[in-house]
Amino acid sequence: MRTPILSPTIFLLFLLFLSISPPPIQCDDDLIEQICKKTPFYDLCLASLKSNPTTIPMDIKGLATTMADIVLSNATDTLDFIQSEIKQASDPQMERALAYCAELYIPVVKYNLPQAIEALSKGQYAFAADGISDAAKEADACEKNFSGSLKSPLTVRNKLVHSLSDVAVAIVKVLLKG
Ligand SMILES: *[C@@H]1O[C@H](CO)[C@@H](O)[C@H](O)[C@H]1NC(C)=O
Ligand SMILES: *[C@@H]1O[C@H](CO)[C@@H](O)[C@H](O)[C@H]1NC(C)=O
Repeated sequence: MRTPILSPTIFLLFLLFLSISPPPIQCDDDLIEQICKKTPFYDLCLASLKSNPTTIPMDIKGLATTMADIVLSNATDTLDFIQSEIKQASDPQMERALAYCAELYIPVVKYNLPQAIEALSKGQYAFAADGISDAAKEADACEKNFSGSLKSPLTVRNKLVHSLSDVAVAIVKVLLKG
């Protein structure tokens, strides 16, 4: 029986190939880390993308889509929370501020984010970035409506939606520059 022997020439070519090929992206985690470094909240980005098992292919577009989905699910969760707080509110001033926040979150959850996710799938990255950044804007506007003795019950959630939106937009911007 003949044992196939790697010819020296092929072996040298192989070594050459190894030395000139760019640093390989070995697995999804590597890509996630590289991309998260380009966002303003590295740890949040990493935690979000690594903890979300998904069937979407994990290229940059897939990561942007996953992140946008996380913004949507957080914004939806926040809106649900606001609506349950409205039911329990006894202070009319608090109820008004919460109702105002619901008004801000409803279009984000129903239109802006779903449309942004749709745009992402079509490669309309500038439009997608705009729609996702609306989530951060509305979260801020909601938070600012509480002032003085009216303490926001939404601070942590608004901040999280804002940060997640910033992360998603930063990833979409990588695609835009692509
Ligand atoms: C909100 O985002 C955080 C961070 O990615 C995640 O851990 C959490 O599960 C999300 N919450 C919802 C309701 O999607
Ligand atoms: C909250 O929003 C309402 C409706 O836009 C506005 O009238 C009110 O001045 C806002 N309050 C604060 C503290 O921003």
